[in-house]
Amino acid sequence: MSLLTAIQPRSSTPGSADLKEQVLKRAGDFTMIPAAAMKAMEIGRNPACSVKEYASAIERDVRLTADILSMANSSLYASGAPATSLNDAIRRLGLRRCQGLILSTCTAGLMKQLPFQQSQVREALWRHGYTTAVICRHLNQSLQLGFTGEEFTAGLMHDLGRSLLAATVPDRFAELVTDGEEGPHTLQLEQAALGTDHCEIGAAFGARNGLPAALIAVIQQHHCPDHAREHQKLVSLVAMADQMAKRFEDCTALPMDVPGDPLCISILAERERVRDALQAVTPAMAENAATEALRLIA
Ligand SMILES: [Fe+2]
Ligand SMILES: [Fe+2]
Repeated sequence: MSLLTAIQPRSSTPGSADLKEQVLKRAGDFTMIPAAAMKAMEIGRNPACSVKEYASAIERDVRLTADILSMANSSLYASGAPATSLNDAIRRLGLRRCQGLILSTCTAGLMKQLPFQQSQVREALWRHGYTTAVICRHLNQSLQLGFTGEEFTAGLMHDLGRSLLAATVPDRFAELVTDGEEGPHTLQLEQAALGTDHCEIGAAFGARNGLPAALIAVIQQHHCPDHAREHQKLVSLVAMADQMAKRFEDCTALPMDVPGDPLCISILAERERVRDALQAVTPAMAENAATEALRLIA
């Protein structure tokens, strides 16, 4: 029996639309972007806004401020001496990176809020997103893709839908995975068992929460980057980093092997350059990312 025929839709399985609504309704109890973060991001859309105005919007939420400083000093964002104040972090990172930093912090906040049945599922999902984000950042720099922070936010958030499934329909989620790990057939298994998948769920949740279109495209298309009509470069980058992160999680990383389909690679750079950039992704890089990820949601 094939893997896909092993999991058939149950007779009691609600239709795709029903399950999607059920998950989104339950997920609606959780705050994706707190009011202070929303306000700051609105202010930050004006490139001429002052650091003081931007920081004061964030500072209305003490917890958000602490979380942003913690994230700003993580390996994803930090360079040089640690940022000791919000103003300091904003000046160093610049407005565009700060907008991404706020969304990354909100993602960590959501992961802390979601009621996972088992802590190892929360940890596996968050660690996978964080490792993907670190690899996205590395590839962006190595291949000079020109992203200014949106690449790690996208890496961090790409499997948002899996977290929502794990938190809102935990029994159904547990039937599909072991320890929260994503496998090569995840999407097909979800479709067969649930009538929907984490890409659809995550994109719908992202749209309801006003996430930027580029992030929604990544959440929706990271398993089929060749179908992405817009933001194809960002989607391709995350798709490649996602595969690389999974290889490290499975301990099957093959440095000479270039993951991703040829179209995806050609969108980013020449195959040789992509291979060189991937070769520089070391197990130590993935291990450090995993360690830091756990520190941020502890
Ligand atoms: Fe995924
Ligand atoms: Fe993933």
